[in-house]
Amino acid sequence: MDDTKLHEFMGKLVNDMGGAAMMASVIVGEELGLYRAMADGLPVTADDLAARTSCNPRLTREWLNAQAASGYVEYVDGRFRLPAEQAMALANDDSPVYIAGGAVVLASMFLDKNKLVDAMRGDGALAWGDHHPCMFSGTERFFRPGYRANLVASWLPALDGVVGKLEQGAKIADVGCGHGASTVIMAQAYPKSRFFGFDSHGASIETARQRAAEAGVADRAQFTEASAKTYSDGDFDLVCFFDCLHDMGDPVGAARHAHEALKPNGTVMLVEPYANDRLEENMNPVGRMFYAASTFVCTPNSLSQEVGLGLGAQAGEARLRDVFLKAGFTSVRRAAETPFNLILESRK
Ligand SMILES: C[S@@+](CC[C@H](N)C(=O)[O-])C[C@H]1O[C@@H](n2cnc3c(N)ncnc32)[C@H](O)[C@@H]1O
Repeated sequence: MDDTKLHEFMGKLVNDMGGAAMMASVIVGEELGLYRAMADGLPVTADDLAARTSCNPRLTREWLNAQAASGYVEYVDGRFRLPAEQAMALANDDSPVYIAGGAVVLASMFLDKNKLVDAMRGDGALAWGDHHPCMFSGTERFFRPGYRANLVASWLPALDGVVGKLEQGAKIADVGCGHGASTVIMAQAYPKSRFFGFDSHGASIETARQRAAEAGVADRAQFTEASAKTYSDGDFDLVCFFDCLHDMGDPVGAARHAHEALKPNGTVMLVEPYANDRLEENMNPVGRMFYAASTFVCTPNSLSQEVGLGLGAQAGEARLRDVFLKAGFTSVRRAAETPFNLILESRK
């Protein structure tokens, strides 16, 4: 027994327990508008913040104490202040680094804990639609800032000749579209194109339709409940998979169906969680978050479907490339990347 190593490990675990507790605190602060009420960056007392947000003053002070102890807010002379950088991450859902909405995904992992225990004792299956609904809204809110920051500005332009087609009027499939965050963003940017979102989760399709209507793009973005292997539309210039291929039981079958649904010279854009090919290369903060989420969500969903390949959220480029080559695509290349995402382009 090495006491130094034990103390180091206990320090790490205490830090992680604090982080887990703080994610619950972030969800509460986000829902109550506490961060947004501090977004002006001015120092505020606990009582003033409580009055601004109609919250209980004693609990608001305790919430602020936790935020200050975590470095989320500053504390000076009895007043608390949300610095501009923290406001970007916690108060401004238009910002590319807004992460507070994503904390809700973590809540669903705790809420669905018993279902995972059963899956791990059984056949490993836990379908996407069997999660607590906050999984669906949390996923939308976690991914949307990244899509808003990167999709039109850099990911689509990184594909060979695709933006020109979108500007002139193209036909695009968004497979596994969830709440349609990516579909709506593309439909807003390319009004001459037509967008078709497909997802096997009916409730998500209904929400996607609402999102398109709210954004004023329902005329060019339509959504259909369908699996990645059965949607009947075709003749697409571009088929997209946003953070969903690895969730599927049969990714090769889904890629093969995309191949059939594409026009000649059509393109697939595959957006996946950032990962290297080997576990040893993914032992980092992003990798550990995705492996943990993958245990609760992505892999059991894949095991709930036919084939049940179980790629996992840290599949990495080599395994993803293999999926597309097996499905009949002739080329796969890395078009772009961010700390959270890997963007692959595959041509027919
Ligand atoms: C992690 S979510 C991503 C949703 C959306 N693309 C986004 O980026 O916000 C994965 C989505 O894949 C969908 N999905 C999983 N397996 C599917 C399949 N076999 N066919 C169609 N959709 C599937 C789920 O219902 C879920 O909406």
